[in-house]
Amino acid sequence: MQTTLRVRRFNPEHDQPSSYFQDYDLEVNPADSVLDGLIKVRETIDDSLALRCSCRGAICGSCGMRINGHAALACKTKMISVASEGETIQIEPMKNMPVIKDLITDMASFWSKIRQIQPWLQPQGPPPTTEYTAPPQAMQHLNRVMSCIMCGVCVSDCTVLEVDSQFIGPAALAKAYRFVADPRDAATRQRLENLNTPGGMWDCTRCMECIQACPKGVGPMDRIMSLRTKGMAAKIPATCGSRHAEVFTDIIKHKGILDEPMLAVRTFGLKHVGRLFEMIPMVFQSILKGKVPLSGPLHKPLTSIRHIQRLFKRARKKS
Ligand code: FES
Repeated sequence: MQTTLRVRRFNPEHDQPSSYFQDYDLEVNPADSVLDGLIKVRETIDDSLALRCSCRGAICGSCGMRINGHAALACKTKMISVASEGETIQIEPMKNMPVIKDLITDMASFWSKIRQIQPWLQPQGPPPTTEYTAPPQAMQHLNRVMSCIMCGVCVSDCTVLEVDSQFIGPAALAKAYRFVADPRDAATRQRLENLNTPGGMWDCTRCMECIQACPKGVGPMDRIMSLRTKGMAAKIPATCGSRHAEVFTDIIKHKGILDEPMLAVRTFGLKHVGRLFEMIPMVFQSILKGKVPLSGPLHKPLTSIRHIQRLFKRARKKS
């Protein structure tokens, strides 16, 4: 089939400060991958196109890029799945990391955040004479998270990193979970405390983009939620993040509806009263845009609150 690859080009030697799109028309097999198409471009049309790849089998994690606006592995994305009628395919470098050239990004901050979570086993006691072993059933729940190939695709589509580069990000948090939940590791509390800081596990906004983007089914956001649960179960000192989760639940339990002003007040409390004042412009904007409920800012409990409380009781019994 005939298609067009529209590739975002950037050469730091000539194109400062901005990049541009370049179209390549080519004949491809529908079963080819986007990476096959890009390699064909490089071999037959334009040998100046820069991209990273190695295994071509979704193993090495080096061909992460944005395809039609979403990050993916180019070697795992079939032409037919993104251009069944020969539509133009837009290809860009990953987001949330600087571009070195064309489709190649600088992953230094990605790796430094992975190092920050100390991605190695920290067992207690003297080293065993052979290897550190654990029964297979104790490791089964880690299978998915251990499939991570460190491609950076989840980091590229993370909406928090887009506005806050200090956020540790979904890949590092999923990796942290891998060690926190490893029965052989003895540094669990310390790991959870390290993640209980600004930029850590409480900064994820649960947009689910990382779950959708991950080519290996790691489900980074689910792992972040598990870290939070473990942090609260271990009674790690409360932060605005953990208080937000507790207060949210408490308000729903007592009113059946989210009382947002109360949520903000109880989350920040007197200790972080400055944060409340920072929210005043947002409150006015919400009023202007009609986002404040017609019933007024203070919510009364729903008349059906008893049903909701029954659900809470049932959930507590099950846990
Ligand atoms: S080339 Fe190795 S993951 Fe795509």
